[in-house]
Amino acid sequence: MAKLNDNLSGHPDSPDADAPGFAARVPDDFAARVAVRGSVENCRMVDLPRISDPRGNLTFIEGGRHVPFAIERVYYTYDVPGGAERGGHAHRDLAQLIVAMSGSFDVVLKDGRGTVRHHLNRSYRGIFVTPMIWRELDNFSSGSVCMVLASNRYDESDYFRDYADYLRAQGLPG
Ligand code: TYD
Repeated sequence: MAKLNDNLSGHPDSPDADAPGFAARVPDDFAARVAVRGSVENCRMVDLPRISDPRGNLTFIEGGRHVPFAIERVYYTYDVPGGAERGGHAHRDLAQLIVAMSGSFDVVLKDGRGTVRHHLNRSYRGIFVTPMIWRELDNFSSGSVCMVLASNRYDESDYFRDYADYLRAQGLPG
C-alpha cells in the first residue's frame, strides 16, 4: 500500500515559509484528497518551494510535506525522442509527483470517467497523481527531463498495463 500521510504540516528543519524568497502552495485540502483513489479530480498541481537567488533558483521537496508520502524512489526519463509517448499504465497503490525538471511535456490523466491534460513546463511545479489513475505522457520538448517521486519501490505487480483491465478494476465496462 502507498504510504499516504495524513499530516502535511511544516517540518521543524524547513525554512520559514514567510522568509523572503520562499514560496510554496500546497492546497489546504491536499491531505484529504490524496486518500481518494482513482479520480482525476483528486490529482492536483502542486507549486513547490522556490528560493530565488541571483546565482540561480533552488527548489526542494520534502516527503510528507510537499508530497503526502514518504519518498521511496526517484526516477527520471531523458533523451526522449520527438513524438515519443511514455506511461500508458496505472498503479494499484503507487502515488507519485511528476515534475518537468527541464523542458516540457504533457501528462494525460484518465480515470475511465474523465480525462485531464496537464502541461508541465516549470521545475518548481508538479502534478500529484493518486493511485488508480491511468497516465500517458507525450508532447516532450527536446532535452526535457521528467522526474518522478514515488511512494514505493518498483514493483511490476503494482501496474495495470492494459486499459481494459484498469477500467474493470475501476468498476467500469472494460
Ligand atoms: P515504465 O514504468 O513502463 O516507464 P514509463 O511509464 O516511463 O513509460 O518502465 C519502463 C521499464 O523500466 C520497464 O521495463 C520497467 C523498468 N523500470 C524499473 O526497472 N524501475 C523503475 O523504477 C521504473 C519506473 C521502471
